[in-house]
Order: sequence, then structure tokens, then C-alpha cells
Amino acid sequence: MQTEFFKIESENDIDKIRCVGKILKDGGVVGIPTETVYGLAANALDEVAVSKIFEAKGRPQDNPLIVHIADFNEIYNLVSEVPPEAVLLAKHFWPGPLTIILPRSSIVPKSVSAGLDTVAIRMPSHPIARAIIREAGVPLAAPSANVSGKPSPTTAQHVWNDLNGRIDAVADGGTCIVGLESTVVTLCQNPPRLLRPGKITPDELAQILGEIEVDSSVLGELQKGVTPASPGMKYKHYSPNANVVIVRGKFDNFAEYICATNHDGVMALCFDGEEKLLPVPCLSFGKKEDTAQQARTLFDALRKVDELGAKTVYVRCPASDGVGLAVLNRLLRAAEFEVIDL
Ligand code: TXA
Ligand code: MG
Repeated sequence: MQTEFFKIESENDIDKIRCVGKILKDGGVVGIPTETVYGLAANALDEVAVSKIFEAKGRPQDNPLIVHIADFNEIYNLVSEVPPEAVLLAKHFWPGPLTIILPRSSIVPKSVSAGLDTVAIRMPSHPIARAIIREAGVPLAAPSANVSGKPSPTTAQHVWNDLNGRIDAVADGGTCIVGLESTVVTLCQNPPRLLRPGKITPDELAQILGEIEVDSSVLGELQKGVTPASPGMKYKHYSPNANVVIVRGKFDNFAEYICATNHDGVMALCFDGEEKLLPVPCLSFGKKEDTAQQARTLFDALRKVDELGAKTVYVRCPASDGVGLAVLNRLLRAAEFEVIDL
């Protein structure tokens, strides 16, 4: 398949946005920018189009998709009940990096939700994403636009590298400003439960919802035989080919540990300013105190680690407060929970 590439300057780049909208209307799949990561979009109400997403990504059939809307009113078609908490969350955080899980209406194909009777809904804030959804005229199902298991894409080039030849088009809307996927919260449980951390933090959600629970899969490894609340949490994720190891502790101990390793094929992912102090090739993923910057940079850094051919990469452990919780959540999965405490 020939994959078209559209460089879209802004939401006013109408001609190209129309082209992308038409591909989606006609049942195609397109990599589109959002503020979090690039999504692989198709008409959420068209089962055949949705099946192309699973095929292009190599995504397991039991991992449900998020449905993206541009206007709040679209939600009434997609879910069978809109509780007051959903309206409150939308008022505060939409458009933006929050996904809300609600009871699915029968108009949404079962395959979108991988057979669950719930559906995940998000209204992105990226102006180009919103223009594309409006132009398509239908809600768009979109997982992250990476090959399943790889780090999520934060640039159109990442999408192109993963999916060129397997999808109809890529819409380049620049680098994603958040850099990690949306926060996922379910209102189908009482109290509401955080399933995936993101830029919107548990504290921010609690300010609106009162009590919220944080699912044990956020920082813990899923136990064998337990059904995960969010199916995506059971898969190996966000992983470069290199073996990722998180090292928790002070920088001096980190440096000492790296010095003592066999340096062959070893790299370090560290914080700004630490690169020169380590005896192996290093990449920084942001300032130590700036977890928002780490969020923005992490996936690109994980992809670069592979381009540089590293066999093992030792990673400095981020602080787990604020958006750091999301950075740590993604890193733990990339490392398959391999953490060294020093
Ligand atoms: O920021 C984002 O959310 C990006 C952009 C493109 O919007 N999308 C994204 O989609 O990250 P994906 O498919 O990579 O991750 C969706 C997550 C998965 O962990 C999935 O299991 C969970 O949301 N999910 C989707 N529907 C669900 C449902 N009905 N119940 C529980 N978890 C659900
Ligand atoms: Mg994903």
C-alpha cells in the first residue's frame, strides 16, 4: 500500500485536512497528531475500518481502542449513560489529555471495545486533530500509531518509520507537546479508578471527583491469572529492542554502577548535565526536576536508543509525583519491571 504524507501547518490548512477527512470517511486509516502522541485513526462506527487499525499495528484483538470526538454532544450517541461526573470531568479537562471510560452504546461496534460493555472516550485539544475529526464527520477510533509494543510515536516521522506501507496516510502536525498518552479514568466503577496515569494527575482528578482509586497496575506488575481493568496494561509496552533497566538512587551511585559494568553495547538515559560524567554513550531525557519535559522526551529517547544500536540501556529513575507518575509507569513497562535499587 502507498502511504500518503500530508504536512499540515495548522487547522487552517483546509485542503489537506479535507483530503485526510475524505480518506477517513471512505474507511481508510490515517496517522494523526494529537497533543499526547500520534494516533492511528479510523471511523469508529465502521467495523471494517476499525479492523484495519488492529491489522496495521499488529494489535491484539482483546485490547480496546479509544474513541475520539471533537464536540461534547457526540458523547450521547456513543455511551448509554452520561453520569454527572463525566460532565464535570469534561468541563475541567476537555478538550485535553483525559480519556473517560463509560458504558458503551450499541452504535459502537463491539470490536472497538474488544467485546467489553464499556467504551473509552477522549476529546483531544490538538487543533489539527479536532479539525480532522470534524472533517471526517464521524468519531475516530485511535490507538497510538506505533507498531504494537514499540514506544508510542511523538512525531510524524516515528509513525512513518513504523507504519509506512501499512496505512493510507500520515498527517504531520508537528511534535506532540505532552509526549505520553492520555490519563485513563473509568467511571464504570465506584469510586472512579485511574487505569493509566498521564498529564492529568490523580490529584487533579480527585479535586473534581472527590475520591479516586489508583489501579494496582499503575506501578505494579500484573499478577498471573488476574484480569486487568485496562487490557492494555498486560502487554509488553513502550519497549525499544534494547534491554531497559531502571536504576533508582543518587546520581553518584548510578555513575559508580555504570563504571563497574562491561561497557560493551551499554548506554545510559540520564538527566541534563549528567552526560559528561558517565563513561558510556548517554542521552538525556530532560532536567531532573522537570517531569513534564521528561514526559515530552522519553519516547523519542527510547527510539534513539535503538537507532544507536544499544544492547542495554540503564535509565535514571524519575520522581513519581505529578506527571512523573506517568513517566515512571511507561518506563516500568519498557523495563518489564526490572529496577535496581542503589
Ligand atoms: O493519548 C492517548 O490516549 C492516545 C491518543 C492517540 O489519543 N491513544 C492511546 O491509545 O494511547 P492506546 O490504544 O494506545 O491506549 C488505550 C488504553 C489501553 O491501555 C486500553 O487497554 C485502554 O486504554 N482502554 C481502552 N478502552 C478501554 C475500556 N473500555 N476499558 C478499559 N480500558 C480501556
Ligand atoms: Mg498504545
